[in-house]
Amino acid sequence: MFGSGDADARVMLVGEQPGDQEDRQGKPFVGPAGKLLDRALEEAGIDPSEAYVTNAVKHFKFTQAEPRKRRIHKAPSLREMTACGPWLAAELAVVEPELIVVLGATAGKALLGSSFRVTQVRGTVLEEEIHGRPERLVPTVHPSSVLRSDDREAAYRGLVSDLKVAADALS
Ligand code: URA
Repeated sequence: MFGSGDADARVMLVGEQPGDQEDRQGKPFVGPAGKLLDRALEEAGIDPSEAYVTNAVKHFKFTQAEPRKRRIHKAPSLREMTACGPWLAAELAVVEPELIVVLGATAGKALLGSSFRVTQVRGTVLEEEIHGRPERLVPTVHPSSVLRSDDREAAYRGLVSDLKVAADALS
């Protein structure tokens, strides 16, 4: 599944992989995590409709206890992340965003390598060469981790605060 949004977007958001809803609708971030992300972006001063949204891994990986039962997300392997790398590189080459918002560990590892640790670099502006192009990136947590957090409000505030760093870097 490709990303969605304006090919002239100034900011590209990179998530992990499509979830159940995304897989059904053929668009990234249209399920619960996407709704939370849109709200956080708006609060941080970034118009979600002006962002290009995509995923590091292009397919939904899941387990299913029985046929027709709920499909449960499975984390992608390094091999799957690497296999999808050329598609993400192609999206970056077309959109040429001014800033990449890295949503969580999978996107971070896919773009910046396996030593990426979101807790160490979240809410900072990184400058790195990616697929031969100089890029500016702001890492933050994945919006799904906010939904799973014991203290949702604090986790949400943290996400918005990191996204404000991205908004400032764009202004
Ligand atoms: N989580 C992601 O990482 N991407 C989506 O598109 C939806 C949920």
